[in-house]
Amino acid sequence: MTAPTSPLPPRRKLFIKTYGCQMNVYDSARMADVLAPQGFVSTPTPEDADMVILNTCHIREKAAEKVFSDLGRLRSMKTARRNGQDMMIAVAGCVAQAEGAEITARAPYVDILVGPQSYHRLPELVARADRKNGAVVDTEFPSEPKFDFLPAPRAEGPTAFLSVQEGCDKFCTFCVVPYTRGAEYSRPAVDVLREAQGLVAAGVREITLLGQNVNAYHGDAADGSTWGLGRLARALAEIDGLLRIRYTTSHPRDMNDDLMAAHRDVPQLMPFLHLPVQSGSDTILAEMNRQHTRDDYRRIIDQLRSYKSDIALSSDFIVGFPGETDADFKATIDLIEEITFAQAFSFKYSQRPGTPATAMKKHVAEEIKSERLAIIQALIDKQLDAFNESCVGRELDVLLTHKGRHDGQIVGRTPYLQPVYVTAEQTQIGKVARLRITEVATYSLGAEFVDAHAA
Ligand code: 5AD
Ligand code: SF4
Repeated sequence: MTAPTSPLPPRRKLFIKTYGCQMNVYDSARMADVLAPQGFVSTPTPEDADMVILNTCHIREKAAEKVFSDLGRLRSMKTARRNGQDMMIAVAGCVAQAEGAEITARAPYVDILVGPQSYHRLPELVARADRKNGAVVDTEFPSEPKFDFLPAPRAEGPTAFLSVQEGCDKFCTFCVVPYTRGAEYSRPAVDVLREAQGLVAAGVREITLLGQNVNAYHGDAADGSTWGLGRLARALAEIDGLLRIRYTTSHPRDMNDDLMAAHRDVPQLMPFLHLPVQSGSDTILAEMNRQHTRDDYRRIIDQLRSYKSDIALSSDFIVGFPGETDADFKATIDLIEEITFAQAFSFKYSQRPGTPATAMKKHVAEEIKSERLAIIQALIDKQLDAFNESCVGRELDVLLTHKGRHDGQIVGRTPYLQPVYVTAEQTQIGKVARLRITEVATYSLGAEFVDAHAA
């Protein structure tokens, strides 16, 4: 006699739209993982989806407002359906966490609201939403870490994100993250190593360790000690087949000696670092509660360059923070000129509800913010172009990651994270190839194989 089997759940199509940071990219993949046993399969567009999740970002006003316009579009799509098919709408991520009440008021047709720390409970929330009219809300910071309840992630191609740390205790005065993502938490090192081993066994060759403050990582290790990110990187480097390790995003305060030394000692740790400084003015840095000065930042960069002379740097800048004068802005420009970045991101200061900077005096006029943004972006673009140009003629090891848009074209990335296009067989995907950089295209590089037979 065969044992009775429980019926498979009906297949439902799931569309997830991700806004914002890489942490959200990771979270969206995990939401799909956690819903897969419930019969949810991914679909590339919302049109025919049974469930749509908007995994949202609250970091700047524009990102948050986009969610409401997308919700309006989904509502029209849902009401225009003539085939009787329902569309369950969920808002996840930091906007759900911070503006739950506003969402239920402005978009009462939303079925589920789930915060970034409770999405492991999605199957239960979906079951409740199936039974109920009106929004099912879970924006708690549960005592159980969600990671303990998520299935092992699936590898998709040779690169993967691995979340090791979450939340933030720094409270920069402009930033919503400490409120939306909660207190700092580090996953135990054994769990990280196990997840990394699983990914590598499934073909992953490059892992990017993620955290809002990833270099503040302090995870419990099997021997009872606490590991920092440098120690974790050294342990990950022992995994056979893991060729590249990266991490993002870091805070200057947590750039400790051991982590910097790991850049010298661990060949798998890529020579690229995203280290946001936000401003080059000590006055503004203090007002931002960054807990470091311009000189502290310089010293870190000097030390890193002494350990790894070719390390390429990236940063984030905010222009028009309250009280920012022309002289403060010039200090930022001077710092960029002095350090030289391979790439960087810059943003106009955006007032965020509940953050201390919102209540500060001397807000900067919108036109001045725009002017400063244009200046900073032109400088950053110039440095990016110069960095890309400096690579032409060089031979670089490129991890070939996926098919390009054109036939026979493969895309990869250099150790410095630049995208590279090369003509190669698809079988090369997942390999690290020695390529000669031949040209600079828009935000990318063209290349050829050093050994033509290898293509
Ligand atoms: N306004 C503008 N930019 C912001 N960032 C964070 N909060 C704000 C804000 N209120 C930027 C910072 C941070 C990046 C992720 O977003 O530069 O490093
Ligand atoms: Fe936000 Fe500052 Fe924390 Fe970064 S360190 S997440 S900018 S509060």
